[in-house]
Amino acid sequence: MLSAGINKKGVANIMNHEQEKQPEQQLEREARIDAGVYANLSEEEETIITPVRGEEEPVPPEKPDPEVLVEAVDVRQYFQVKKSRGRKALVKAVDGVSFAIRRGETFGLVGESGCGKSTLGKTFLRLTPLTGGQVLFNGEDISHIKGKALKRFRCRAQMIFQDPSSCLNPRRRIEDIMAEPYKIHRLYDKNERADKVRELCDMVGLSRNYLKRYPHEMSGGQKQRVGIARALALRPQLIVCDEPVSALDVSIQAQVINLLQDLQQKLGLTYLFISHNLSVVKHCCQRIGVMYLGRLVEIAPAGRIYGHALHPYTNALISAIPAVEGSGTERTLLKGDLPSPSAVPPGCPFHTRCPHAMDICRQYRPELKEEEAGHFVACHLYNHQTEEDNE
Ligand SMILES: Nc1ncnc2c1ncn2[C@@H]1O[C@H](COP(=O)(O)OP(=O)(O)O)[C@@H](O)[C@H]1O
Ligand code: SF4
Ligand SMILES: [Mg+2]
Repeated sequence: MLSAGINKKGVANIMNHEQEKQPEQQLEREARIDAGVYANLSEEEETIITPVRGEEEPVPPEKPDPEVLVEAVDVRQYFQVKKSRGRKALVKAVDGVSFAIRRGETFGLVGESGCGKSTLGKTFLRLTPLTGGQVLFNGEDISHIKGKALKRFRCRAQMIFQDPSSCLNPRRRIEDIMAEPYKIHRLYDKNERADKVRELCDMVGLSRNYLKRYPHEMSGGQKQRVGIARALALRPQLIVCDEPVSALDVSIQAQVINLLQDLQQKLGLTYLFISHNLSVVKHCCQRIGVMYLGRLVEIAPAGRIYGHALHPYTNALISAIPAVEGSGTERTLLKGDLPSPSAVPPGCPFHTRCPHAMDICRQYRPELKEEEAGHFVACHLYNHQTEEDNE
């Protein structure tokens, strides 16, 4: 089992008292809609989706590493999807992912749209019941917690979403939106909440004049500051930043990334930073994990990913960064589209697009193995696996 890095989860401020009375499944569904998960589904897939709940008994974690805040251990998240004419398909959005995130670290998670990044991020927030595996937070398995324990956990892990507009209620003033986490968790009286909201404004560099406004009266960058403020309200340890700058103008992206970095230093935060764009995570992450069709194919310190990537898929992603064009590095162009996660190719899932595919790649799936210190890769070009390894 890989022991390099992360796990955990936390939930965004998406519950209100009415919602708490509804069945948990409904809450989870709404949370996923809030987070825009359905955006990747085709119309026929959008019909209803059921997270597949696993049968596994929780396994007590080994002695926790004090440096690790969150860790995913063989995490699997499958969805049963109804297709047209009553057909069903199993979407393996996350399929056996293990890694850990150290305290105070920013871990970047990259890969093409639809490869499972958001789903993996949400498993750290306990948004849906896991199909399999565990998420450990501060050494505690949070994959099966419920009720008050789950609510307490959600104070410690939060999420920042890609599209700030979609998670800010258009009918509420900014001050009410920012005070919502305190109301949900019944913290502070009215005056104290107002003080806390003003503190949050200062923390995220948002003028207090915006507090009386509605979301539509603000720019994308200002709305994202509100989203960040809400995520910070309960003073979490972990924040899953799901494409936090993808919907913003390039000029604003740097401001928001700088803000996140300042907040991390001041508050000792740990980030899982998700992006489909390798150039965005380049400057703000210590380590990067590359995901393809629900699995991690490479994990390495950021410097090594950009200078010495091993996996052909990572190299193709790096080749796609415009600034690298003409730099003399050999370009690896990706053929075709990402296969459907409900029909993952056998063997190495990347073999249908890989310029280096060999016979073994079509038969056996390469395991993620440490090729150099701290540098893990799942590719037969490096892992000299035997047939017995794959039995
Ligand atoms: N709730 C769900 N029900 C069914 N399929 C889902 C659900 N959430 C995600 N998926 C599918 O899982 C795959 C990974 O999605 P996602 O995690 O959103 O990818 P990414 O964030 O990398 O773009 C996609 O094929 C998506 O359609
Ligand atoms: S295992 Fe084979 S197909 Fe997969 S990335 Fe490596 S060389 Fe390419
Ligand atoms: Mg996503």
